[in-house]
Amino acid sequence: MKKIIPAYLRVIVLFFTIFGAIEYFIDSGDRAAFIKFPIVNVILVVVLVLLVAIEIVISAADTIVYQILPEEEKAKLAAEEKLPLKESAWFKGLMNKLTRTVPIENEASLLLNHDYDGIKELDNNLPPWWVYSFYACIVFAAIYLVRFEILGADNQEMELKKELAQAKIEVAEYMKNAPDLMDEKTVTQLTDPADLAIGKTTFETNCAACHKADGGGQIGPNLTDDRWILGGGVKNIFHTITNGGRDGKGMIAWKGTLKPKEIQKVASYILSLKGSNPKDAKEAEGDLWVEETPTPEAK
Ligand code: HEC
Repeated sequence: MKKIIPAYLRVIVLFFTIFGAIEYFIDSGDRAAFIKFPIVNVILVVVLVLLVAIEIVISAADTIVYQILPEEEKAKLAAEEKLPLKESAWFKGLMNKLTRTVPIENEASLLLNHDYDGIKELDNNLPPWWVYSFYACIVFAAIYLVRFEILGADNQEMELKKELAQAKIEVAEYMKNAPDLMDEKTVTQLTDPADLAIGKTTFETNCAACHKADGGGQIGPNLTDDRWILGGGVKNIFHTITNGGRDGKGMIAWKGTLKPKEIQKVASYILSLKGSNPKDAKEAEGDLWVEETPTPEAK
């Protein structure tokens, strides 16, 4: 057979095919198998060396066989080597197998013995590539029918729905454990004194200028009463701190400056100030917030 693909390309293609197969079949979670399991690297190196070795052996064997060929065979081989791919015996053989055409000179052997006003008919074979594709379709249809209509496997829509549901569960799980990921839906009020102390520090550094160190309020509203302009409860307060107050009021969004976990702590700290009645506190503003009322549209 004529060598269509050069050896180095064959090695590369085979190597990456094996590499791909390894990655596909070894379940290595979110990291590539060759990073997670160092042994995979060893296997890959061995595979590569083997592939190169096999190519060398084949090429050596070819050379030896060529040496012992009689002269006329050598000449034939050399001539074959020079032919373009489409002219090669291998390609012609393949085409013949796929089409089984009869050369035009032998057309008479196919002629059917009827004649419609001079129109004659040839009885050509169905081309094998067509016949085999047809059989493959029948096999496919049978498997499809059994799998989806009888055994009730998931169709694409169902698969997508299941994957989305699973992804939702995973995101929720991730949000629960991720140290710095949290939103107003998942935030909970902290009561641990250590957390509140951190919240207090954050408050004194960033917020006291407007809300006063005791939370009594100055430029910003009083945070120690039970009235809230933008909604009370940890979820609303988290939302306000994250996204800021109403436009032009002076309360900026802190989401770039503070991490969600820090916002959670400072929000919890603010909640712990409730009822502390600091001296010279600002008048209460906003609506009375009673926990367990349905969350009003914050802002
Ligand atoms: C530049 C001044 C300023 C700073 C600094 C500031 N705030 Fe405010 N804050 C305000 C103003 C003004 C409002 C009222 C916003 C409105 O009415 O929309 C407000 C509103 C709030 C509210 C909602 C109050 C309510 O009644 O609904 C919370 C909670 C709050 N701030 C927390 C904080 C926290 C926590 C920080 C620090 C990380 C902070 N603020 C820093 C000015 C400030």
